[in-house]
Amino acid sequence: MDNSIMIMDHPLIKHKITMLRDKNTGTNEFRALVNEIAMLMGYEALRDLPTEDIDIETPIEPCKAPVISGRKLAIVPILRAGLGMTNGILSLVPTAKVGHIGLYRDEETHEPHEYFCKLPSPINERIVLITDPMLATGGSAVEAINFIKKHGGTTIKFMCIIAAPEGLKKLHEAHPDVQIYVGQLDRELNKDAYICPGLGDAGDRIFGTK
Ligand code: PRP
Ligand code: URA
Repeated sequence: MDNSIMIMDHPLIKHKITMLRDKNTGTNEFRALVNEIAMLMGYEALRDLPTEDIDIETPIEPCKAPVISGRKLAIVPILRAGLGMTNGILSLVPTAKVGHIGLYRDEETHEPHEYFCKLPSPINERIVLITDPMLATGGSAVEAINFIKKHGGTTIKFMCIIAAPEGLKKLHEAHPDVQIYVGQLDRELNKDAYICPGLGDAGDRIFGTK
């Protein structure tokens, strides 16, 4: 596997994704699990955040100790479902800025349509972490990254909880420079472009709609 794609193999993440898939998991638990998985995946995805030493004093003596430095983080959830992952990442990096990209898939064509975009400025000085629980055809992720690049974003990571092989291929081919983090890689898309076995409609399950 190309090293710009990382598929998680931690048992805690696997366990929590199984709970997410279960159709008997209710909205509250679903929402909590999405945030917990985002936090666990964030630990991996942010492994290369640069640090710098600062001077502090412990109760014993002065010392130099590392803190996160340099380019700051922007979390950019793809609305709606990506919002569900934001707090999990913010609990790791509370100083991160949050942008939003609103995209919905047309139910017939499965093509993404943009309805809202607001990014922290200037975006080129930040590491951009895009979140969306589902990478299905890949259309939404490719569009979101096109948009961020058009606005000057250069260091971009994409994090999803479940991916279909079709979407992962499309995203990687369109944006080979983007580091992709996947919770689990599923079998295929069905004729309605839903991921199988998947977890159903992530936005509806997070927000209790439908
Ligand atoms: C879902 C999901 C992704 C997209 C994935 O959103 O959260 O954004 O579909 O599909 P794709 O890879 O085929 O583009 P949806 O359009 O259902 O909107 P929602 O989050 O508002 O429910
Ligand atoms: N969007 C979802 O929420 N679920 C899928 O399986 C595919 C796209």
